Amino acid sequence: METQQDSRTWLITGCSTGLGHALARVVLAAGDRVFATARNGAALADLVAEYPDRCVAAELDLTEPGRIPEVVAEAVRRFGRLDVLVNNAGYGVVGALEEISVEQMTRNFQVNFFGAIALIQAVLPGMRSQGSGHVVNISAAAAIANYPGFSVYGATKWALEGASESLAQEVGPLGIRVTLVEPGPFRTDFIGRSLERAAGALEAYAGTSGKFAKLLQGMQGRQPGDPEKAGRAVLAAVRSANPPLRLVLGKYAHDKRRRQLAALETELAGWQEVGQPTEFTAR
Ligand SMILES: NC(=O)c1ccc[n+]([C@@H]2O[C@H](COP(=O)([O-])OP(=O)(O)OC[C@H]3O[C@@H](n4cnc5c(N)ncnc54)[C@H](OP(=O)(O)O)[C@@H]3O)[C@@H](O)[C@H]2O)c1
Repeated sequence: METQQDSRTWLITGCSTGLGHALARVVLAAGDRVFATARNGAALADLVAEYPDRCVAAELDLTEPGRIPEVVAEAVRRFGRLDVLVNNAGYGVVGALEEISVEQMTRNFQVNFFGAIALIQAVLPGMRSQGSGHVVNISAAAAIANYPGFSVYGATKWALEGASESLAQEVGPLGIRVTLVEPGPFRTDFIGRSLERAAGALEAYAGTSGKFAKLLQGMQGRQPGDPEKAGRAVLAAVRSANPPLRLVLGKYAHDKRRRQLAALETELAGWQEVGQPTEFTAR
């Protein structure tokens, strides 16, 4: 794989635990600089202590998007430029669609989608003037094919995927790359403190979203994905001369992506006779 080896400055959100913390550590160990954000700055003390010259920590809660421009300006002031933005901060809401409150939906979209978009908007002027940059958006296996119980969480990630596909085509000619990362289950705090439950628990959904919620619960601490290896894969994609639009992480997500591609093909072919001949007949 052809790679570009110059060192970069990264802004990574959600670095307190899990994928964000592991990625920050991998990137710092590789010699790059990291502006790491978390809601609680104390959670970043270990990274700053280990790499005082190349790691700066800042507090950022994505439910307060008004802070985003000043956080990005501070990163640029400290390091002179930003080469990579990683929209990693995020959390899930589990429950049947009917059970999820409007407040829960709105907050989940605010953090996982609107917060990420506001960060992208804040870093793009600098990246455009440099003529280079890389936006990495952490999506999910729920955006490959969604599960019962993850309607809203999955929707936030599908929204991020849709926006990223478009963004990649808009900024590609300006020298800026976009990568969506699709992790399967990784051993982080996601299923624990980062998973919110819907208020209701309707019996009607016990066999669908209820079953899925229990399955998630049983997976805690046994997820096959290693966050450090995920970090190394993201670093390799960013350092590649030809980074992918989608980086699928782990065997589970690879198998799921292949099954989804085959199922889409089967359905498309099965309904082609009905769906295709719906255009005006050429005269
Ligand atoms: N682990 C998996 O299996 C998996 C699979 C697919 C996708 N993902 C995605 O991976 C990303 C990272 O999650 P993780 O697995 O590493 O879980 P994690 O260990 O729980 O980390 C989640 C991070 O998001 C931050 N966060 C949550 N709400 C926030 C808010 N309002 N403002 C700012 N930051 C906020 C958390 O910060 P606090 O410390 O302040 O709570 C934490 O740093 C998420 O986008 C998640 O959707 C994870």
